Amino acid sequence: MIIKTAEFLKSSSRWQDCPEANRAEYAFIGRSNVGKSSLINAMMNRKDLAKTSQTPGKTQLINHFLVNEQWYLTDLPGYGYAKVSKVKRKDFEKLITNYVLNRVNLVNLFVLVDVRHTPQKIDLDFMQWLGESQVPFSVVFTKADKISAGNVNKNVEAYRASMLELWEDLPQMFITSAEKKLGGEQILSYIDETNGMLVKNKVRFDG
Ligand code: GTP
Ligand code: MG
Repeated sequence: MIIKTAEFLKSSSRWQDCPEANRAEYAFIGRSNVGKSSLINAMMNRKDLAKTSQTPGKTQLINHFLVNEQWYLTDLPGYGYAKVSKVKRKDFEKLITNYVLNRVNLVNLFVLVDVRHTPQKIDLDFMQWLGESQVPFSVVFTKADKISAGNVNKNVEAYRASMLELWEDLPQMFITSAEKKLGGEQILSYIDETNGMLVKNKVRFDG
């Protein structure tokens, strides 16, 4: 997919305040600092569309971008950030779960995980909850530039194996690096195909 336009629309603190739910929406989610905002920038070919930081907890609101004047791309706050108060962490969790369960035009959620790490309980639990809630999702491995290609493959295989203990079928998986601009094109192709399918099946979002 060629990105002709990508514009920031709005930051919202509640799903009720998000832009009108009248277009297909794809959202990035995952632990704080995993690279959600960086990957959005890499995919959109823009340096500073989504705000990034070395310090976890940068994205604290639901950020909507409009791509090619056709579909929404959404940057969500990270979950599981240990250094904020328990109350604040609960607030973030609530914001995320309410958004996921209530956003009627959400077509697919991309769950980002750092490819350097072994499968983390917090991510597996989150995916389990998505499954139970019947929310479609894909897994996106991030920061692939940080380890060798051999270790990327090894870690992805380990991830598959641990997911197969819980799941009969595996979700679609993408290997990416925002730094090296890898894998974003595959995600965009997937979104493009999905958008095409929605049109073909005359799915409409009326907000
Ligand atoms: P929160 O908004 O805090 O939840 O974080 P986030 O998931 O949006 O992460 P963000 O994109 O802000 O990136 C966090 C840090 O990881 C930054 O210092 C980025 O430069 C770095 N980073 C992100 N993606 C990559 C990548 O693909 N490769 C490398 N080497 N660093 C990355
Ligand atoms: Mg962010």
